[in-house]
Amino acid sequence: MNAQQRILELRAELDLHNYRYHVLDEPSIPDVEYDRLFHELKALESEHPELVTADSPTQRVGNVALTAFSQVRHEIPMLSLGNAFEDDELREFDRRVTDGLDLPSGDLFAAAAVEYSCEPKLDGLAVSLLYQDGALVRGATRGDGTTGEDISVNVRTIRNVPLKLQGTGWPAVLEVRGEVYMSKAGFERLNAAQLEVGGKTFANPRNAAAGSLRQLDSKITASRPLEFCCYGIGQVSHDIASTHIGNLEQLKKWGMPISRELKVAKNIEQCLEYYRDIGARRAALPYEIDGVVFKVNSLGAQRELGFRAREPRWAIAHKFPAMEELTELLDVEFQVGRTGAVTPVARLKPVKVAGVTVANATLHNMDEVARLGLMIGDTVVIRRAGDVIPQVMQVVLERRPAEARAVQIPDACPVCGSQVERTQLVKRSKGKETVSEGAVYRCVGRLACGAQLKQAIIHFVSRRAMDIDGLGEKSVEQLVDEGLVASPADLYTLDYEAVVALEGFAELSSKNLLAAIDNSKRPSLARFIYALGIPDVGEETAKVLARALGSLQRVGEALPPVLTYLPDVGMEVAYEIHRFFEDEHNRTVIAQLLERGLQLQDEGEVHPEYAASTSLAGMIAKLDIPFVGPTGAQKLVAKLDSLEKIISADGIDLRQALAARQADAVREYFLVPENAAQARAVEAQLLAFGMHWTSSKRVVEGLPLTGQTWVLTGSLEQMSRDVAKEKLESFGAKVAGSVSAKTHCVVAGPGAGSKLAKANELGLKVLDEDQFLSFLQTL
Ligand code: IVH
Repeated sequence: MNAQQRILELRAELDLHNYRYHVLDEPSIPDVEYDRLFHELKALESEHPELVTADSPTQRVGNVALTAFSQVRHEIPMLSLGNAFEDDELREFDRRVTDGLDLPSGDLFAAAAVEYSCEPKLDGLAVSLLYQDGALVRGATRGDGTTGEDISVNVRTIRNVPLKLQGTGWPAVLEVRGEVYMSKAGFERLNAAQLEVGGKTFANPRNAAAGSLRQLDSKITASRPLEFCCYGIGQVSHDIASTHIGNLEQLKKWGMPISRELKVAKNIEQCLEYYRDIGARRAALPYEIDGVVFKVNSLGAQRELGFRAREPRWAIAHKFPAMEELTELLDVEFQVGRTGAVTPVARLKPVKVAGVTVANATLHNMDEVARLGLMIGDTVVIRRAGDVIPQVMQVVLERRPAEARAVQIPDACPVCGSQVERTQLVKRSKGKETVSEGAVYRCVGRLACGAQLKQAIIHFVSRRAMDIDGLGEKSVEQLVDEGLVASPADLYTLDYEAVVALEGFAELSSKNLLAAIDNSKRPSLARFIYALGIPDVGEETAKVLARALGSLQRVGEALPPVLTYLPDVGMEVAYEIHRFFEDEHNRTVIAQLLERGLQLQDEGEVHPEYAASTSLAGMIAKLDIPFVGPTGAQKLVAKLDSLEKIISADGIDLRQALAARQADAVREYFLVPENAAQARAVEAQLLAFGMHWTSSKRVVEGLPLTGQTWVLTGSLEQMSRDVAKEKLESFGAKVAGSVSAKTHCVVAGPGAGSKLAKANELGLKVLDEDQFLSFLQTL
C-alpha cells in the first residue's frame, strides 16, 4: 500500500472512531490505540506534506493567529427565544401555539394536542456551521443575529465538530446550528491549568467557552476543552425531514453531535414533566444548563406559526431559577479543620439563590481571598451550582463602601490560641529542593487544639474508619470538653462511669458505646491507616498502602521515594505520610493504641506486584537528576549494574553510558554526600521490601527479551496487566494485543479465551502466572 492509500485509510478509520466516541457515545477502541493511529497519520503527513488536506483529523490544531475576525452575514437570521419561568406561562405559550395553528384548544380535545421536542438549554454560545458538499467551510458566531464573526479556524479545532459529514444524502448546502460549550469537568481542568501558569481564570463554563472560542489565536482555542451540540438548522438546499426531531436524528447519522437528553412530548404537560425531571438532574449533568427549550415538532406547523419580532412563535425557553445572586460580605471567620488548616469562611447577608437561602460560603484559602480581591463590606456575586457549597465568584468593585476592611489571617488559632503558620511547599526537582509558600495556613496545636482533636476523633470513629457506632459529633465534643479524651487512644480507656455521666447517655447506650469501642479493636490495616487521618490520605490511598506494604511498620518507615512507587502516590503525599509517622506525638498515640489492645487483622508481606514494580533504573529515574529520565536511567543501569558502581563512577565510565551533559549531571549529583546517602537508603529499603534489582549488564538494544513479542491474556492475580506489560517492556519485549505466528510467548491467566486457543493451535509457548513470575526472576 502506498502512503496516499494508507493516509486515506487512517483518516477514514480515525473519523469513524471520532464519530463513535463523540456522537454515538460508544468508544470502539482504547485511547492508546487511537493515539497510535493518529501518530501514524501525523508521521505520514509530515513525510508527505503535499497530501495534507484541511479535513484531516490532524488539522484540529489551530492556525496562524488572526488580527481580527471578518464579518459573516447570516442568510437566515439567528434568532433568540422567549422565556418562561412559571408553569402557567408555559401553558399560556401552548395556548398561543394551539390558537395559531387553528387547532381546537382545551381538555375536551386533548387528542389535538401539539407535539413538542424537548431539549436542554445549554449555557454556551450559539454558532452556525456551514457545510458545502459535506465539507465544513465556515463557522460563525451569532453576533447580533444578522451579522456574526467568522470563526472558521476556531471551530475546526473543536474535537466533536465533524470536518466532513459521514454517509450520503446530505443537502449540498447545509447550515447546522448549535451551541459551543464547555463541560463542568473541562472548565475545572482549564481553571486549574490556568492557575498553575498564573493565567486568568474564568468565572463559569459559559465565560470560559466564550473566551476560548473568540480567540484570535486558534492554537489557544485548540487547547481548550470545547464541545459542540447541534440543535437545529439554518439554510439548506433541500429539506431533510418533516419534523424537528427527524432533522436532528438525520444530522446525527451524518456525524453531528446532538443532545442525549432529546425527547418528544405529546403535549405541554409532558413538557412540564421533562422540565422537572431535568431540573432534578441538573447538578448531575456533565454540563451547565440554564433551562430547557421546547419546540413545536412539526416543521409544517413551525412555518405556519412563523415569527414575532426576533423570536419564533413555535419555541420557548423554560428557564431554571438563576444560580447567581448579589449579596453583602458581612464578615470573614476562620474555621479549623481536622488537619489544622485554618480556612476562611464568608459570612453573608442571607440571600436566596435558586430557592435556597445562603448565608455562608467557603473561601478555600487566603490565596483565593487575594485572587478575588475580597474585602469585608464588599458586594459579591454568589453562585450555587446544584447542591454544591455556595461559592463567592466575584467582587463588585463599583459597590465597595469606603469603610471596607481587609481580610486578615489571625496570628493565633481562634480555637486554641496556638500559633498559625503558613504551610511550606517543598518541591524536589532536578535534585534540588525549593521551598515556597503554600496557600494553606495551619494551627500548630494539633491534638492540643480542641477543634483538631474533635475532628480527628470524629474521623477516627467514622463508619469507613474504625466504625464505632454511637459516638456522634455531640458526644465527641462532650468527651473532649470534659477532658476525658485527649487523643484517639483515650477512647480505649473510657469506662462505664465516665460515659454514663455524659449528657444523653443512659445505661444501655453507655454499654452499647463501650461494646462498640471494644468491637473496633480488630480493624484491617487499611481501615486503621485511613482512621489515622494522615493529611491527603483518603480511603483509596490507605488501601493501596496497606495492600502494597503489608504492615504498619513498613508504612511508617517507608521513605518518601519508596512510597512513590505506589499508584497515585506523588511526592507531596509521600512526604505527608512520612512526616506523619516521624512526628513524636503521632508515634506515641499509635503506640498507645496498640498497647490498649488494638490488633491489626491482616498484616503480611510486601505485595509481589509492588516488589515487581520497582527497579534500579526506575529508582534512578525518580531521583530527578537533571537530563536523566527513564531512558537515561536505563542506559546507565545497563552499563553500570549497581548503585555503588554508579555512585563511584568517574566521568569516563559515565560517558560510556550517557551523553556528556547527562554524565556530568550524574557525577555532580552523587558528589553531594546527602544525595548519595539518600539513594543508598532508598535502595536498601527497597531491597528490604523484597524488590529484586534486575541484574542487568546489558545495553539497551541487548535487553534479554529484545526482539520478542509477548501477549498477555486472561486475568492476572498477583500483578495488574499494566505492570506485567511494563515489566516485559523493561526487558525489551514488545507486548501485543493479538496472537500470531510471530508471538514468542503468551501469558495466560484464568478466563483466557480465544487468544489462548489460538496460541495452542499455533503451538506457541504458554506460561501461567506463576511460571511467568518465576521466569521474570531469572532475567
Ligand atoms: S434554539 C430559533 N435550542 O439559547 C431558535 N437554542 O435564547 C433559536 N440555546 O441563542 C435557538 N440551547 O445560544 C435553541 N436546544 C437549544 C438551545 C438554544 C441553548 C441558546 C442559543 C440561543 C439562545 C436563545
